[in-house]
Amino acid sequence: MSILQAVRGTRDLLPPETELWNHIETTARRIFERYSFGEIRTPIFEDTQLFSRGVGEETDIVSKEMYTFTPVAEAGKNRGQIELAQSLTLRPENTAGVVRAYIEHKLGETGQLQKLYYIGPQFRRERPQRGRYRQFFQIGAEVIGPPSAGSESPLRDAEVLEMLATFLGELGIQGWRLLLNSVGSATDRPRYVQTLRAALEPVVAGMCEDCQRRAVTNPLRVLDCKHPEDQPIIATLPRIWDSLDEGSKEHFAAVCTALDACGVAYEHDHRLVRGLDYYTRTTFEFVYGDAGEGGLGAQNALLGGGRYDGLSEAIGGPKAPGIGFAIGEDRLVLALEAQARHTPQLAVAYIAPLGERMNGAALVLAKELRATGLRVELGDGSFRLKKSFEAANKLARAIVILGEDEVASGILTVKRFASGEQFKVPRDQLGQELALTPTATSN
Ligand code: HAM
Repeated sequence: MSILQAVRGTRDLLPPETELWNHIETTARRIFERYSFGEIRTPIFEDTQLFSRGVGEETDIVSKEMYTFTPVAEAGKNRGQIELAQSLTLRPENTAGVVRAYIEHKLGETGQLQKLYYIGPQFRRERPQRGRYRQFFQIGAEVIGPPSAGSESPLRDAEVLEMLATFLGELGIQGWRLLLNSVGSATDRPRYVQTLRAALEPVVAGMCEDCQRRAVTNPLRVLDCKHPEDQPIIATLPRIWDSLDEGSKEHFAAVCTALDACGVAYEHDHRLVRGLDYYTRTTFEFVYGDAGEGGLGAQNALLGGGRYDGLSEAIGGPKAPGIGFAIGEDRLVLALEAQARHTPQLAVAYIAPLGERMNGAALVLAKELRATGLRVELGDGSFRLKKSFEAANKLARAIVILGEDEVASGILTVKRFASGEQFKVPRDQLGQELALTPTATSN
């Protein structure tokens, strides 16, 4: 019989790699808390319309990457009525879901800014490659609220960007760059799109197929094109900056001033328009390594985000401008692995019972040590001593031998692998001794 495997574009995450994932998530939670964000958990699937109306019909995500399904209509159990078949979609991103929840729970009526973060899987039917998966994980956040709560303030943008710089710094990611741009207000954007459409008309025939399609459906996305042959043409296209109104220019300048004040470096990238329709004003990406070579290759955007105004209205809610981001956790893991910033943790000790009769006593000793917060591996009395040593050397920093003599005398034999030293220690001091064992890996 054929062996079943994980579906293309999905994968299992296994220890010790999951340790790194947990480390990233713990760090994110710790930092977001300092900035007063609270966690939101929204469903993994939503009404398909949420994404077509929220993210935009013409975006790549909605037009070709969504996992959409229509469950067979079910007879309602209680009142015998038929539940209408509803088109559902596995969430390709979570901003739309957060805004839906904001509307559904009337969070705007508090009059306060809502600062919400999430961690979880997203689904896009993209061509799988390193750093690009069909089920991938995002750590994201949104700051959203009525304008009276200050949701439009450029200080919110700068605060979010400073938080992200702090997060990457605490994780130890080096060499990231922050690309920043403004795509203007809800009225600037259509004006620019018109200008762009006109400028593309005479030149688009000489561009790649994607650009030809986008010139018609979503001209902004032409600026995202990576085809080398198209670059000279793109360089001649009008810049979005020249279509921005004074308000958007001032907003952008205020974001930059606040970033300068706190020393967060950025580059104004005039072509950064991002692939989702809801953005207005500030857009940004943190990139890692070169797009063209090494590192994450073309998948070098560690995270992306921006400001939006109109998304809430598009899905039936009140005016609720916001700013948010989503970090590609899979890519962050790749970046950290490339920098070897994380060494898997070993247990402080491996308890080796001498003979099966000592198994119970060994379990008690492991329980005692674990109760003090130490990470402990428990062997098995059926193993010969040599096998116990081999296993311990892979899993722990030290081995503790537990035979009848040790139990009777309360004096235990410990061997530390890194230094090779072997010594005896009274049982009540064992935990303290083990905690002192250096963290150097054993082999
Ligand atoms: P996005 O740029 O589509 O934005 O995704 C954010 C990040 O998710 C990307 O920069 C990338 O690191 C990661 N990512 C996207 N697709 C994949 C994939 N197939 N495999 C691995 N990683 C991927 C959004 O999703 C917006 N909701 C962000 C946002 C929040 N804007 C405002 N608020």
